[in-house]
Amino acid sequence: MLDKLNEIEKSALESLKSITDSATLEGWRVANLGRSSPLMNVFAEFGKLSKEERPVVGQAANRVKVALESAFESQSQAVKNAVLAKSLEEEKLDVTLPGRTKPIGRLHPSTQQLRRVLDILAEMGFQVYTSREVETDEYNFQLLNFPPDHPARDMQDTFFIQADGRADNPILMRTHTSPGQIHAMRQYAKMNPSDPPPIRIALPGMCFRYEQITARSEIQFNQVEGLAVGKNITFADLKGTIADFVRRMFGEGARLRFRASYFPFTEPSAEVDVECFVCGGKGCQVCKNSGWLEILGCGMVHPVVLQNGGYDPKIYSGYAWGMGPERQLMLRNKINDIRYFWGNDVRFLEQF
Ligand code: DAH
Repeated sequence: MLDKLNEIEKSALESLKSITDSATLEGWRVANLGRSSPLMNVFAEFGKLSKEERPVVGQAANRVKVALESAFESQSQAVKNAVLAKSLEEEKLDVTLPGRTKPIGRLHPSTQQLRRVLDILAEMGFQVYTSREVETDEYNFQLLNFPPDHPARDMQDTFFIQADGRADNPILMRTHTSPGQIHAMRQYAKMNPSDPPPIRIALPGMCFRYEQITARSEIQFNQVEGLAVGKNITFADLKGTIADFVRRMFGEGARLRFRASYFPFTEPSAEVDVECFVCGGKGCQVCKNSGWLEILGCGMVHPVVLQNGGYDPKIYSGYAWGMGPERQLMLRNKINDIRYFWGNDVRFLEQF
């Protein structure tokens, strides 16, 4: 019996040594340690042994069992390690390689410029006031001192949304941010109609015009309107504010000039030019050889407009301006085609 046990042990250990995968290993376990393995048969035949043989064979059988189990454990571990080593070898990973960067989204260049403008104006004490993109003829034109057949309407080709049954006051897409002036003044005036509070606001937003789309004109663009209303506001305040804004936006040394102009809602009116960034004032293609680039329209709020907003023009005065963030970006970055802005070509957008 003891010889038989030695034989069982020797051949089991011998066959275990060469096993390299876990399926075969499991087969070995069933064959050598399972219920009908030769070793278990020895245990099963225990009853047939004499009283003297039992402890001797029992001890030997247990020793063989423990030996096979521990050999099985260590071979399992060896197989596991080998599998791991193999997969590490096969899936070799160079952790020192630079990672692949994922493209990250960003704000649209117009939004970036809009925010730059509003940041500067906030530092100068202008609070943002947003108003609607869909307007009535009354707010977009009439209350801003454009009577129905006024020729200045020609400068602002309009998308009319609904004219049926509203001949006197069609609904339209705003052509400029100026109607926000009336909304704001009326809202502020309501707070204290007999002595309305002063106003200092910036009105940003999209404007729409029924234009042929070309390199120089688009059917939509942003504007940032400025409005200050109060007692004793003069043209000098307007000039100082615009000059301060231009220096903050375009640099300390930026030169600017005011040129007389006309808008129905301001009197007097002016346009502001800055010295051409491209040629430094010498004259080039971008400034059409004038040395100057127009950046905004402005003026003193017309008495009729103040009145329409609920501010008595005998007591109050104010200034206003309208500027275009896309235009500023075009001038700054020598972008020669306005269609890039809404063309959504990432090759353009990712440059900002
Ligand atoms: N609303 C004018 C436009 O879109 C721009 C403008 C000019 C606004 C003068 C103003 C201003 O407030 O005072 O063409």
